[in-house]
Amino acid sequence: MPKDTLTITDNRTGKTYEVPVENGCIRTNALRQIKVADDDFGLMGYDPAFLNTANCKSAITFIDGDKGILEYRGYPIEQLAEKSSYLEVAYLLLNGELPTPKELDNFVHLVTHHTYVHENVKSFMDGFRYDAHPMSVLGSTVAALSSFYPEAKYTKDEQSRRIQITRLIAKMPTIAAFSYRHLMGLPYIYPDNDLSYVANFLAMVKRVGTATYKVHPVLERALDVLFILHADHEQNCSTTSVRTVGSSEVDPYSAVTAGIGALYGPLHGGANEAVLRMLREIGHISKVPDFIKSVKSGEGEKKLMGFGHRVYKSYDPRAKVIKRVADEVFDVTGKNPLLELAVELERIALQDDYFVKRKLYPNVDFYSGLIYEAMGFQAEMFPVLFAIPRTVGWCAQWEEMVLDSEQKIARPRQIYTGQKRRDYVAMDKRAAK
Ligand code: ACO
Repeated sequence: MPKDTLTITDNRTGKTYEVPVENGCIRTNALRQIKVADDDFGLMGYDPAFLNTANCKSAITFIDGDKGILEYRGYPIEQLAEKSSYLEVAYLLLNGELPTPKELDNFVHLVTHHTYVHENVKSFMDGFRYDAHPMSVLGSTVAALSSFYPEAKYTKDEQSRRIQITRLIAKMPTIAAFSYRHLMGLPYIYPDNDLSYVANFLAMVKRVGTATYKVHPVLERALDVLFILHADHEQNCSTTSVRTVGSSEVDPYSAVTAGIGALYGPLHGGANEAVLRMLREIGHISKVPDFIKSVKSGEGEKKLMGFGHRVYKSYDPRAKVIKRVADEVFDVTGKNPLLELAVELERIALQDDYFVKRKLYPNVDFYSGLIYEAMGFQAEMFPVLFAIPRTVGWCAQWEEMVLDSEQKIARPRQIYTGQKRRDYVAMDKRAAK
């Protein structure tokens, strides 16, 4: 029977060490015993961007990137996208099990009755420039919420944690819609508690004048499915930011604000906005080969936005579901003229050696922007449309981190590459460079 250990021989000293292997990992702290001298700090791992370092144990989301598998609490994403609703999935992510009808009713009621924001939040949002990007407005406003709920700092108190999580999930669509109305110079529309989570958000975005706006049921379901697909994705950049900031025991509003900041970047949740800009820049199907050529040559550090993923190396299972949703949405809204271009770009890229060799496939963001645009959203709203559903993933991961007795304040090590110690040089003795 093989032992679950790793034997390491340090060729610098000839010494041998035995390190336990657990869940396919070694604890890098176990390397600290490996020293060349007594006053040596000990061996560390160097892993910029956490390419091969697990930062936590988590029971929420499972991904097998080689096989294209994504599961929330063990349930395949394809089944949840077909059979479930976003708030049912939110309950699942937070509590570990699918809700009974009564549990779901209670959860929906709770979320629905926390959608309003303090009136001061509105005036706070009015202070932004007329053309402020809604993602900046969202991040700053969520950060400001911690000043409205000072008890949120009691992160060890279960009751406090749960009410803040409910508030975050419930208020995110309201703040997101307000950030859009601010950009468009339209008056804010208050939440309508008779509508579903998604229909209420769409109404707050779209209603003008009287309450005559009716959400098309196909679009309501499509957005609900997109919300399910975006609800969690284990230790991605924004979730890692939430866990890192949350590890200082700050309130969840401040931690989630860090997640919104990370999501804003074009390599993460800002990618769907970047895909649309890229498609517009290409402009015509005849220009696709030239564009692919310029990406491959690294010209202007161009990337094929919406392609590639740190974890998925076969396909992104969310992208498959999104393609189906896109067809349903386009049946209602008419085809997005950029769709043809996107399909051609995907076709050419998937045959090209450069992308094949590097295992670059369309990710969740390649088609989502086209759907959002067909539904009438400005490109600036795309990352916001990602942040709304990801809030539950951030909250579930934050709470798991708070309850994990192995977690401590996040504090990586570094390899110092700067100057050796030296003495201060007086101003008149410094040579000009
Ligand atoms: N276009 C062209 N080349 C690419 C792309 C792309 N989209 N993505 C990766 N590559 C190339 C890299 O240049 C690199 O090539 P090299 O080996 O010759 O140097 C190789 O593929 C490996 O790429 P890495 O950068 O090492 O992959 P990493 O895991 O660090 O990055 C990422 C993943 C950030 C998603 C990257 O693929 C990318 O920038 N994609 C475009 C942005 C995007 O769509 N982001 C959304 C991700 S999904 C999400 O956040 C919801």
